[in-house]
Amino acid sequence: MLSVVTLISGSGSNLQALLKACDNPLYPAKMLAVGSDKAASGLFHAEEYGVPSFVVEPHRFSTKEQWAEVLASNINHLNPDLIVLAGFMRILPTNFVDQFYPKVINLHPSLLPKFPGAHAVRDALAAGEKTTGCTLHVVDAGVDTGPIIDFRQVPVESTDDEHSLHEKIKTEERAMLVEAVRSIAEGKIDLEEIGGN
Ligand code: GRF
Repeated sequence: MLSVVTLISGSGSNLQALLKACDNPLYPAKMLAVGSDKAASGLFHAEEYGVPSFVVEPHRFSTKEQWAEVLASNINHLNPDLIVLAGFMRILPTNFVDQFYPKVINLHPSLLPKFPGAHAVRDALAAGEKTTGCTLHVVDAGVDTGPIIDFRQVPVESTDDEHSLHEKIKTEERAMLVEAVRSIAEGKIDLEEIGGN
């Protein structure tokens, strides 16, 4: 059984999909806890599934590294096999990334390496892309630059705005995440190999 900790900052629809999957005894992963950098609305989903949660707020620390150290110690205490960033809107400093690499994976709402950063959906629309999508990748020290695990394409309709397009992308993200975590648990995706270790 693959043990997972998920970090979120937002509404947590990807988290909810993964919690639902983990709730099925036939699914080969278990959610140990959910963490956040704030009182995110999505933490409600953890409560709904009886999964513990923790919040580590950056503004309570004088440096980003100190914040990341406390976040890491919360996670280390649980000793998960995998850490999923599902809408976690903070850049993790190298002291965090290095100690867990390649066990931290991130969902991003564009076809990387196109449109990294916090406004990927808006940026793809502004660039007039006809196709965009989502990417699941291993987190390295850069911003959305790590080795790619999987991606899904989503067509951009002329009627799409940022919200409608993001919702379509998130539908694909949820399916991709649930499938990828299963494949990691079953050894069909090897993060050590993808991460180049
Ligand atoms: C997703 O689109 C993810 O790729 C991005 O933030 C969004 C989170 O959505 N990093 P949700 O909170 O899982 O609904």
